[in-house]
Amino acid sequence: MKNTFFLTTAIDYANGRPHFGHAYEKCLADMIARYQRSLGKEVFFLTGTDEHGQKVQQSAQKNNQEPQQYVDEVTAGFVDLCQKLQITESKFVRTTDPVHKKFVQEALQALYNKGEIYLQEHEGFYSVRQEQFVTEKDQVDGQWPEIFGEVVRMKEPNYFFKLSQYQEWLKEELQKNPNWIYPAFRRNEIIGALEKPLEDLCISRPKARLTWGIELPFDSNFVTYVWFDALINYVSFANFGTAENRWPADLHIIGKDILIPAHGVYWPIMLKALGWPLPKKYLVHGWWLNRGAKMSKSTGNSVDPLPYIEKFGSDTFRYFVNREMSVGQDSDFTDEKLIQRYKSDLMNDLGNLVNRSISMVHRYRQGVVPDYQESEVTEVDAALRSNQVVEEYQKSMEEYQVHMGLQQVWSLIQSANQYVEVNAPWKLAKDPVNDPRLNLVLAHLVESCRRLSILVEAVVPQSAAKIRTMLKLPSEPMLLKEAYFGKSLTGQTLGLAEILFPRIEDI
Ligand code: MSP
Repeated sequence: MKNTFFLTTAIDYANGRPHFGHAYEKCLADMIARYQRSLGKEVFFLTGTDEHGQKVQQSAQKNNQEPQQYVDEVTAGFVDLCQKLQITESKFVRTTDPVHKKFVQEALQALYNKGEIYLQEHEGFYSVRQEQFVTEKDQVDGQWPEIFGEVVRMKEPNYFFKLSQYQEWLKEELQKNPNWIYPAFRRNEIIGALEKPLEDLCISRPKARLTWGIELPFDSNFVTYVWFDALINYVSFANFGTAENRWPADLHIIGKDILIPAHGVYWPIMLKALGWPLPKKYLVHGWWLNRGAKMSKSTGNSVDPLPYIEKFGSDTFRYFVNREMSVGQDSDFTDEKLIQRYKSDLMNDLGNLVNRSISMVHRYRQGVVPDYQESEVTEVDAALRSNQVVEEYQKSMEEYQVHMGLQQVWSLIQSANQYVEVNAPWKLAKDPVNDPRLNLVLAHLVESCRRLSILVEAVVPQSAAKIRTMLKLPSEPMLLKEAYFGKSLTGQTLGLAEILFPRIEDI
């Protein structure tokens, strides 16, 4: 069997410009995708936009545009963001793709034929913002929570999917799979939500009210909307039913707001009803906050990622979001935090280590990495070459604790910088009697840089390639373990040291 890894992000609503939260999810997914490639796996990675629905239709109207023209423009902004962030998706998904639309219709027809979908007059409360019917059970202290926006009374016929009959099955499935959802407490939240009886899911909108959707194959007066359209992207773009099929996904990466009910309840039940396999794992991340409140388009407090990517570069952005956010929790964004990480972790730690190590090889050894006597290696020298860091990094990455993985890699960078201070090569260079020791110290520093260029690949790919170019190694990504334990650079003439992260005053 082929060694593959299939991961997805949520697909973003195409009703505005991308914000910080969208950029984060893509950076998290991309770091995992690159890591999985470094294990030699063939990675299939989907990200994209969710282009139908009422909000999109309304935004297009406000802009005096046809919905298709509107989503073409909005989606171009998301594609551009992916390019600017060096995201390595295999396919950028768009739900207006005719292949997807046909696939959704076939899935709906199959469910309809099986008797899983029925028509019923429905009267109830409708949340305009969430584009769904809500019930009084959703109220908190007799009020509709903020997330529902305006809630109106509404009566109309609609098609319903028999969600409720799968409630017990889903509970059992969750009990059987303790590791299905990361972090684990999110699984308990779904189990908790299943304490209440499930109601069948309304999957249609009359065309009189919403035209911007996928027409129901069994009733042309209706379109399907939101979840039946969006969730199916994970399968419709995975060559399902062909020899190149990738489904089921190894990992769905989503934010905590779309776990319950969409991904944690609707999606597994839809798959079960369709007779398709379930995704192997969910990684549920938290939110970027702005002064304690979730950044979102609707509250207008979202931060535009582009100016930060333009000023500091995509590597800085990717590093910052993956290092600063503990996966699964929330994190408050401030400019100061980003600047702090830039200065301390990237400029002073990584940039400075690489720059001074390579510069010293030029200054003291004409750019040639010196050889040394293994018998002269002390415990402190050996510690710098320890394999512990790659093992720890790999363990964290396997558990999707990317912030921990980065912390471990950066502890190697900090140790190497301390090693420079303690050994003070500039002092050793003053007396030729120290030549063997200076050789050993310089060789160990170059070896640390070489290993780091492999360890930081998934998070800061451009910098990793630049380091390898300075070391006269191929700049392409390498296999993690093979490269890490690869040949040292003894005897190699290095390229000149370049600045990886310039001073803030200079950018
Ligand atoms: N279109 C749906 C998802 C359909 S998936 C089949 C949607 N779109 S969204 O644009 O609102 O959100 C897309 C992703 O961005 C979600 O995973 C969401 O959790 C994430 N984020 C949106 N705001 C966020 C933050 N403030 N912080 C981190 N991520 C958050 O939901």
